[in-house]
Amino acid sequence: MTSLEPMLSFTGIHKQFERRAILNAAALDLYAGQCHLLLGENGAGKSTLLRILAGLLKPDAADIHFHGYSKPTMSWQKSRPRLRDTVMYLHQSPYLFDGSVIKNLSYAKSATQGGSHNDEAVAEVLSWSGLDDLAESPAKKLSGGEKQRLALARAKLRNAPVLLLDEPTSNLDQQSRERTIALLASLRDEGVSMLIACHDLAGFSEIANGRYHLAEGRLVRSEA
Ligand SMILES: Nc1ncnc2c1ncn2[C@@H]1O[C@H](COP(=O)(O)OP(=O)(O)OP(=O)(O)O)[C@@H](O)[C@H]1O
Ligand SMILES: [Mg+2]
Repeated sequence: MTSLEPMLSFTGIHKQFERRAILNAAALDLYAGQCHLLLGENGAGKSTLLRILAGLLKPDAADIHFHGYSKPTMSWQKSRPRLRDTVMYLHQSPYLFDGSVIKNLSYAKSATQGGSHNDEAVAEVLSWSGLDDLAESPAKKLSGGEKQRLALARAKLRNAPVLLLDEPTSNLDQQSRERTIALLASLRDEGVSMLIACHDLAGFSEIANGRYHLAEGRLVRSEA
């Protein structure tokens, strides 16, 4: 499912907080079916960047190019609705609703499909994420690893072409970490484009096609 042409390119990303430049002409490409790691010190701006890419945080400037889309390069503002449809940001502590695991999944499905949800699709992602036995449990009572897997199940239901993950395995034990990474590998193999902010590379290197290192506002790319 890999392709040489990126599906989405960002150039000239600038962001300052209180006159301090966090992103300074940063640029990156995202490819279908590929996974890139986003590395950088604490405070380098990784979460800021991911939120800009997902259309959640307004940059001072950024140009976005959706390849294969008729319109030429667009500003962040203009492309925001399309970014919100295409790119899904997964927070380190997933945001879950009150109610059972299955409710959280059904709601995710209906949010994008006008109220109707397909029980079969929900059952499929429950089993994919290994949460069958917890289907009726309150989502907010799940362990950190289970919550992360539920967030991934929800992302899979939503079929977002691009997933941005903000430290998805921090605070997880080894086994949960491996399960989460295996789910990420399976999404990548289905053609999802992924960018994963992480500190500890263990396990991620194996599934990554390349790395971006963020320092002093710029992104430098290297092969995995
Ligand atoms: N809303 C804000 N207002 C002012 N400064 C902010 C704001 N959000 C982030 N910052 C600052 O921008 C810098 C980058 O923050 P960011 O959270 O993006 O870093 P990070 O690379 O994700 O760090 P970590 O590895 O600790 O998660 C930090 O110095 C942070 O304090
Ligand atoms: Mg962060």
